[in-house]
Amino acid sequence: MTSISRVEGRLKVTGAARYSADYPVDGLAEGYLLLSTVGRGTVRAIDSAAARRSPGVLAVYTHADPLPLFGGAESGVGYNWLPLRDNQVRYHGQIVGLVVAETFEQARDAAALVRVDYTAVPPRTSLRDGMPGATLPDDVNGEPALLDLLADGVASIDEALGASDAVVTATYTQPIEYHSAMEPHAAIAVWRDGYLTLYSGAQAPQLAAGTIATTVGVDPSRVHLLSPHVGGGFGNKILTWGHPVLAAAAAKALGRPVRIVLTREQTFGVTGHRSAMSQTVSLGTDRGGHLVALKHDAYASLSSGGDGFLYEAGPHTTSRYFYASPNIHVGQRLVTLDVPPQTPMRAPGPEAGSFALETAMDELAVRLGMDPIELRLRNYATTYPGRGVPWSGKHLDECYRVGAEMFDWSRRAPVPRAVADGEWLLGTGMATAAYPASRYRTTGKVRLQADGTATVSTATSDLGTGMRTVLTVVGADALGLPVDRVHAALGDSALADNPGAFASAGTASSAPAVHAAAQSAKRALLELAVTHERSPFHGMGQDKVRYERGDVVGPGRRIGFGALLGIVDLAGIDATETTALGPERERFAFTSFGAHFCEVAVNRWTGECRVRRVTTVIDAGAIVNEKTARGQIVGGVIFGIGQALLENTHLEPGTGRIANANLADYVLPVSTDVPPIDVRFLDHPDTVFNPLGARGIGELGTVGIAAALGNAVHHATGRRVRDLPITLDKLL
Ligand code: MOS
Repeated sequence: MTSISRVEGRLKVTGAARYSADYPVDGLAEGYLLLSTVGRGTVRAIDSAAARRSPGVLAVYTHADPLPLFGGAESGVGYNWLPLRDNQVRYHGQIVGLVVAETFEQARDAAALVRVDYTAVPPRTSLRDGMPGATLPDDVNGEPALLDLLADGVASIDEALGASDAVVTATYTQPIEYHSAMEPHAAIAVWRDGYLTLYSGAQAPQLAAGTIATTVGVDPSRVHLLSPHVGGGFGNKILTWGHPVLAAAAAKALGRPVRIVLTREQTFGVTGHRSAMSQTVSLGTDRGGHLVALKHDAYASLSSGGDGFLYEAGPHTTSRYFYASPNIHVGQRLVTLDVPPQTPMRAPGPEAGSFALETAMDELAVRLGMDPIELRLRNYATTYPGRGVPWSGKHLDECYRVGAEMFDWSRRAPVPRAVADGEWLLGTGMATAAYPASRYRTTGKVRLQADGTATVSTATSDLGTGMRTVLTVVGADALGLPVDRVHAALGDSALADNPGAFASAGTASSAPAVHAAAQSAKRALLELAVTHERSPFHGMGQDKVRYERGDVVGPGRRIGFGALLGIVDLAGIDATETTALGPERERFAFTSFGAHFCEVAVNRWTGECRVRRVTTVIDAGAIVNEKTARGQIVGGVIFGIGQALLENTHLEPGTGRIANANLADYVLPVSTDVPPIDVRFLDHPDTVFNPLGARGIGELGTVGIAAALGNAVHHATGRRVRDLPITLDKLL
């Protein structure tokens, strides 16, 4: 297994890597967004006269003095409205103005002088209060919102539950969560001769460029988005938010480059979040612990300011495929709240869904007096429920077995609250991880250059995932070159077509495309070798020459491709290939799997919960580069620790203001919250899925962690906390 350090690691740790706000641009003007201070209503009047007179101010844009913007939600903006097009206030923190000035401080100070009068009505901020009025969507991004897979003769899931020997039913809740990427959102827009260059962190550079083109009303060929380094995205840099749209429009209007950098607090209103959820799960089994009925009904918050994208709202899908049961019911309802928009956040769906289902499974194991792993093995699914097709690769049982051994699970006390270390109650818990494996149609390009190096490229993004390193490894491997002779280019909308980095589909989509392009480049090189008249191999049959580790080899001769290109006076040769999942999509289900084991210590006096160790075993096919893959899983586990124990978004009831919109009060795991995390990758290449055998891992690591930790807390204390985060007040 290859395991190299991140190829751009030195750039990042020395500060040389440029993020979206870092580009030096001459004549840059600075924009500062003005956000609503009421939770719902209308802007009655805006007085920006004082702001306009303020030093350095170039322009103040409001709905009364708007910027020309075009298109709607379908354009790829994360809202169902466009900034400054109307006087509606949909939530606290919505964009209501933009001030552009010579300096950031001047823009910020002038923004404070804008007087906005609102007609305000109380916002809807409580998921629970809204649940009686919940709506059932037609579908949740292609998945049915309501699905009953019932055995013949069974009229309803409740009938199946009624016929069960043991039933557990419980409701699990979690608050709105924020991605909180280390790099806040920013954009720099530069127009030259009718062409726009935009520097803005994007998971999907071409999608974002297209969105900007639509919203500013120019042909997509006129927008070039650059995003070579992204300081974290986690889903929040897939769709386009107001700052690049307004930066592009303002720069066009002013004839000057404009930069808009969101403050940390502003990211909570301007960009998206994970919906708040309430999920009720009922599990019914026979005496042997075999599920006979699985019922999962979920409610998720839906922003009145961003109903265009429901994917985050699908936790119910989890119970569709985690276990085998003759009767399965899943349902997803939506509760409209006056809060900022929801958007995909790492493992949308299964992150929340697994908290509910995997906690319910633990509750069932306790009820049955059965080991939690044994319960899961008894309900092991070998075909995808409702589709009857096998998985392209599934070794989840091996994950349980290997993880149990690494973790020493067999020594676990059979009853809760049995082990203590001084004032700390100790407990262990486990949970299943699973996440759909996706692969999209993607184009890769490989260029062999006269200096003996190769460039591999595609318009995806590296948001810290290690994608640049993965593509370097794939290119080096396919070309038989050392990694230092391969350069990977990404984060640029002008590169080969790529849907972008999301849904854990990056490696599975981009690596096969680059691999195929490398094969094609080698063929083109050999063709050149025998056809170009100055080539030493000229006139030889194709069967006489071969490519070997960067060299063209023929009878009695071996020449590096760089030297050969020099001889024939070419700077380089290019090859481009497009790859996609084929008809196998009908015959198989594709999912990445894993199992988490963790130990917690809960202070018997204060309720403080510390994570002592985590073991995670992953079945995601072939691993292209182990070091960055491990980083992905460790990062996912830490993400789950945040979800489980720390993260909470506090909405002020009367105003909808997010009271903790900063990283001091929106609490994330820091180094001292993170224990040793032991990650093991099983090695079962999934060549049904793609020739490299790699499935996705970016989101998998976080699925199940909250449940595993909550289950460990129960084991330590005997207390079952069904409301995230599991804070000390809930354990006293
Ligand atoms: Mo992911 S939430 O598809 O970046």
